[in-house]
Amino acid sequence: MVLKKSIPFFLSVCLLAACGEEAKPVENTKPVSNEPISLEDARAVYTLNCASCHGPDGTLKASNAKDLSISKMNESEIEQMIRKGNDKGMMPYEEMLSTAEIKGLVKFVQNLRK
Ligand code: HEC
Repeated sequence: MVLKKSIPFFLSVCLLAACGEEAKPVENTKPVSNEPISLEDARAVYTLNCASCHGPDGTLKASNAKDLSISKMNESEIEQMIRKGNDKGMMPYEEMLSTAEIKGLVKFVQNLRK
């Protein structure tokens, strides 16, 4: 009798413990990395944020956007453009994207050149 009662009790404690473990928010103790995200990840960020004007390959030029495949900007100019935008329709992304994402986008944009 004692055994029969104690087994379900034991099981429920295990289940509760397991549930508690899962529900706990994972604490991110890793320091924020400013290393550029991979080209593959940058493509996803680009598709979401940039392709509507620049097109998947950079050549769309919608809303007066520039053809990125023939851009002559250097790395820091591209980064500045993505961060700050300009008064001719390029939007600023500093508030929306992380440094790692912006740096990954710079590489991705350079990669669109023929
Ligand atoms: C709402 C439309 C729009 C979106 C979305 C947009 N851009 Fe632009 N972008 C522009 C326009 C317009 C220009 C050209 C501004 C000019 O004439 O100086 C431009 C210019 C640029 C340039 C400079 C090219 C050059 O050689 O002059 C870069 C680099 C660039 N965009 C990258 C991006 C990236 C990366 C994203 C996504 C994070 C993005 N853009 C999202 C409209 C957009």
